[in-house]
Amino acid sequence: MDPSTTVIAGKSSLRNLLSVNDLGADGLHEMMRITDFFAEVSARPIPKVPVLRGKTIACAFFENSTRTRLSFEAAAKRLSADTMSFGVSGSSISKGESFKDTIMTIDSLGADAIVVRHPSAGAANQVARWVSKPVVNAGDGSHEHPTQALLDCYTIREALKEKSLSGLRIAVVGDLSHSRVARSNVLAMSAMGAVVTLVAPRTLWPASLDGWPVHEITCDLDPILAHTDLVYLLRLQVERGAGGLLPSLREYTATYGLTARRAAMMPKGALVMHPGPVNRGVEMSSEVAEMPTTLVGHQVANGVLVRMAVLYYLLAGPEGVDAMDVSRDASVLSDAESASLVALDG
Ligand code: NCD
Repeated sequence: MDPSTTVIAGKSSLRNLLSVNDLGADGLHEMMRITDFFAEVSARPIPKVPVLRGKTIACAFFENSTRTRLSFEAAAKRLSADTMSFGVSGSSISKGESFKDTIMTIDSLGADAIVVRHPSAGAANQVARWVSKPVVNAGDGSHEHPTQALLDCYTIREALKEKSLSGLRIAVVGDLSHSRVARSNVLAMSAMGAVVTLVAPRTLWPASLDGWPVHEITCDLDPILAHTDLVYLLRLQVERGAGGLLPSLREYTATYGLTARRAAMMPKGALVMHPGPVNRGVEMSSEVAEMPTTLVGHQVANGVLVRMAVLYYLLAGPEGVDAMDVSRDASVLSDAESASLVALDG
């Protein structure tokens, strides 16, 4: 088979994206490759392709979100799918409707795929048991946030101009005990070859390191900075109780906040990332937030591209990916695409 048209190795039946482990190393690399294609699409004058026309993507957000929700909606629209959006406020949840009944209502309204965010760990897995459509986990409590990990790995790959993260020394710093971003990213970064060190005050360590493929865990940030190529800062999950596990926010910032002084201890060109929303002055200073090596804006932009790849893969299936000619010059549209784009434009 032509290498440009291979499908996710051994994952041809991938139905849902609930965890980074659903993909494995081959699947992660393949998803990066599909994202490259949608990056080319997104650079076109009309950054839209008709591949999911007639499909409806439901975004069921039972917890607040800015970038994840907007980027799933933007991704669906760039693929020409219709969207249905659900947010807790303004919904019948306030009239006592259950989580299951709400999901079944969204299902009955004709969603072809459901993107779920929920404050409880395991909520997306539960939805996947209730409905027969593809389900994407957009963050479930402190458990996982697989598309965040995909967009982060894609952003690193783009910044390094490398296809793998082999040997990259990454420090993931902050609220390890509550952050779903930490768990998904550690799984993805390690699977792509990075050497990950976890850094946090003892009270914010995970209960166990089982299932965390890391090099080491430490309370001390400063001594490792000189040997770190990328610092990935986590937001303090105050709404999940992180505040109660720290003497004070000020003390946390004094020891773990990335300031210009700490950033200067890192090797030249070292990268800084954060999933957002950033608490400036807590996890990083405004000065660090504005550094050219701080990739927060790139992470957000790439969120749309990886979510296009995920939605396309789940809805078009391996045959769809197989049929997608990723080797061609994306500025040259196929006849069918050109016709559809003219129709969309008119
Ligand atoms: C994260 C989330 O909600 O899990 N944000 C995001 O999706 N970009 C990180 C966070 O809120 O800490």
